[in-house]
Amino acid sequence: MSNSSKSARWGFQRFVASSVAEGFLHEPVIMQGMSGAEVSRNGRSYVNFSGINYLGWQQDARVLDAFVESARRYGLSTGGSRATQGICEPHLRLENMLSTLHGKERTLSFASGMLANIGFINAMTAKFGFSSRSAIDNRDAVLIFDRECHWSLWKAASHLKFGESLLAFKHNDVTDLTAVLAKLGGRKAIVVFESLYSSDGSVAPIGEILDVCQRFDALSYIDDANGFMVYGSPQRPFHEQFRHMRRADFIMVSLSKSVGLEGGAISGSAEFIDAFEVLSGTSIFTAAIQPPTADLAVFIIERLRANPWIMEDYLDRSAMFRLKLQASGLRLNDTASYITSVMIGRDDKAEQVRQALEQQGFCVPIFRYPAVKPNQALMRLILHRLHTEPQIDRFVASLKDLLGQGASRDAIAGAEFVGHRQR
Ligand SMILES: Cc1ncc(COP(=O)(O)O)c(C=O)c1O
Repeated sequence: MSNSSKSARWGFQRFVASSVAEGFLHEPVIMQGMSGAEVSRNGRSYVNFSGINYLGWQQDARVLDAFVESARRYGLSTGGSRATQGICEPHLRLENMLSTLHGKERTLSFASGMLANIGFINAMTAKFGFSSRSAIDNRDAVLIFDRECHWSLWKAASHLKFGESLLAFKHNDVTDLTAVLAKLGGRKAIVVFESLYSSDGSVAPIGEILDVCQRFDALSYIDDANGFMVYGSPQRPFHEQFRHMRRADFIMVSLSKSVGLEGGAISGSAEFIDAFEVLSGTSIFTAAIQPPTADLAVFIIERLRANPWIMEDYLDRSAMFRLKLQASGLRLNDTASYITSVMIGRDDKAEQVRQALEQQGFCVPIFRYPAVKPNQALMRLILHRLHTEPQIDRFVASLKDLLGQGASRDAIAGAEFVGHRQR
């Protein structure tokens, strides 16, 4: 078969060409150095609002020195999956630390948060047997997702029939969750939700959701990827919700956000977690976290716990950033958390804004369809701890020029977040 008929048959070439033409896809960004408050990409320096490693650990020479020291001792890889090769001491230290933090018996680490989520869904719905005695069958489980749950969770559950073994409740809506659970007639169920949603910055009513789970004897799984270590002091508005988190049956974290590394983990009771190593598939069939990364995760989490001012200071500055955006007449997401979205509206307008900001030396992440509904595009902003006040002020002024004169307000009327929702 000729190359052109192969292309026509599979459709990838056409998909990429038209996606680039319509502004959905871009040339790959190549960074000349580290991502941080500033970033050099494709040969030019930008003030960066795209990063999720917002506390800037890799800008701290002591963190890099500790990484190198750990790499010298433990190497760059465990050499395989934990089943074939085992884990190193740093993995165990990390898992034990997370178990203590979450008040759980055991924690299993994964090479990413995505793999933790996929592994959890695999494990909880598995039919598997080493032998007739050493076997398990949980295909009768019902999973109930908040509609805004992360793509990784929806994707992992795509083998389940929606409406039968996979159900959804309205975003952060405890009444709707109660109605869904009440119809299940006691079937064994797991409620899956996030602590803090990166789509709209909202914080789940964690305590109320867990109360409902308890009432219906359902298990609970919290994806705390975006909330991990961002709990702040008791005076913070959302601290109260996070306080309930330890009551969940399972807590999942990602190390790519506040910890600024790579990796994920699930904490829960040993009865379940012991089985996840095999049943998740995403532990036994893939490499473990790099040992120095696991070591540095412990180092950074300890630093954050010993120095609560780091997060407090960051949250204060994020709140100030949000106030400055608000004062410029920009329309923002409702919840004031460290994630701030500027609503733009039309998809083509969002792309124009992104390009205009790029020309002015800023890089920003635009969320547009399919991450949000068509023509309800937004800009998801996360302040970096090392952004300077002049950088912030210059950025806010640019945004005000581009969007603050009512241009965005017309386009965003009735905008609604749909996050990573798949249906
Ligand atoms: C809610 C949520 N869950 C899971 C993940 C995946 O985490 P990781 O980057 O560690 O794979 C993310 C990352 O964006 C997330 O936002």
